[in-house]
Amino acid sequence: MMTIQQNVNLLPYNTFHVQAMARQFAAVRNPGELDEVLEVCPPQQQPVLVLGGGSNLLFVDDYDGLVIRNELMGITVVQEDDEYAYVQVGAGENWHRFVQYCVQNGLGGVENLSLIPGSTGASPIQNIGAYGVEVKDVFHALEAFHLGDRERTTFNLEDCEFGYRESVFKKKHKGAFIILHVTFRLSKKPRFNTSYGALEQELEKMGIQELSLQAVSEAVIRIRQRKLPDPARIGNAGSFFKNPEVDLSVYQQLKKDFQNMPGYTTGEEKIKLAAGWLIEQCGWKGYRQGDAGCYEKQALVLVNWGGATGRQIYQLSSEIAESVEKKFGVKLEREVNVIGSHLR
Ligand code: FAD
Ligand code: EPU
Repeated sequence: MMTIQQNVNLLPYNTFHVQAMARQFAAVRNPGELDEVLEVCPPQQQPVLVLGGGSNLLFVDDYDGLVIRNELMGITVVQEDDEYAYVQVGAGENWHRFVQYCVQNGLGGVENLSLIPGSTGASPIQNIGAYGVEVKDVFHALEAFHLGDRERTTFNLEDCEFGYRESVFKKKHKGAFIILHVTFRLSKKPRFNTSYGALEQELEKMGIQELSLQAVSEAVIRIRQRKLPDPARIGNAGSFFKNPEVDLSVYQQLKKDFQNMPGYTTGEEKIKLAAGWLIEQCGWKGYRQGDAGCYEKQALVLVNWGGATGRQIYQLSSEIAESVEKKFGVKLEREVNVIGSHLR
């Protein structure tokens, strides 16, 4: 039986561990329950927020609307041939559990994305990425449910308009759909991608002679555990900002003043800068203001040491972005989804 709860504290449902009250809250385990919830609380009457693992959100206010927590489960091979297996995954499935399923079953493509927190349904929203791979590289299709007209739609790769930490679900369809399940195309004859410097070094350190899905996954896990705070212990949502992309000419100009500045080519005349480096250069790494802070091992990650409010973390992020713009003339864009009525 589906129930709609009133005035629910969202602290256990976001990895920043900040307090925020949801006026209404419902966990849905199947499309029937979703339909029921939307029948009782149609989105025409109040705002609706879809929640997965809450690992890419910052609540800066109470949520005066309905929060739907997606708990649609299931991992099924829906089609296969000699080269590929097509695996359909319920949106509520934990992402890393799905990665482990692939590694254990000899299916290649997501091993570089090991240990990213959150749900599988959220993975296409910002086209999650790490260590040289993005979800778009294995994405086949997804089925989504329009919250307003309650129709189902299939989105293929092209429809999703994936980019760096971008998709159609952050732009023209922002907040309009709930993703029900995602189908990935995984390789039965894995081709490994170890081009990311830190990954190559880690595999070497581990003494790996012959690459395997297990080895790559393990190397990624080791790097991540060293660098990133475990949200179970220290509140955070991973990288707070995107790495900014600038024109080659802007990069060349900056390089004159800052010789050590890292930059990565991303296509025609565009360079991606390392936001963590820019923030560190402004002196924020390890900084703490009350319980809101900038992580001492990775300046791109903002942390809640315990009792910080969403607003305090947001305020710190604004100060950081302002100082980076002042020193380098580069604007930082938040990667984390800020949920609040006044601040965006
Ligand atoms: P939530 O935070 O619950 O939601 C994020 C957004 O997606 C919200 O706008 C929400 O409304 C929407 N949404 C969620 N589920 C659905 C759905 N089913 N249908 C429609 N909309 C939905 N990200 C990376 O890309 N790479 C990394 O390496 C990485 N590392 C991280 C490390 C740490 C320690 C942490 C805490 C986070 C990291 N992240 C990383 C960010 C985060 O894990 C991903 O963005 C993840 O996909 C978020 O999943 P979630 O279920 O927690 O989404
Ligand atoms: N750097 C610093 N100081 C810091 C942090 C980083 O100088 O405090 C420099 C590093 O020395 C390196 C460069 O910045 O030269 C890149 O650092 P790193 O490899 O740690 O990766 P990142 O760019 O900070 C991105 C993603 C991560 C992803 C990793 C690995 C974004 C916004 N972040 O971080 O994704 O896991 O690469 O691929 O693109 C996330 O999105 O939440 C996330 C954690």
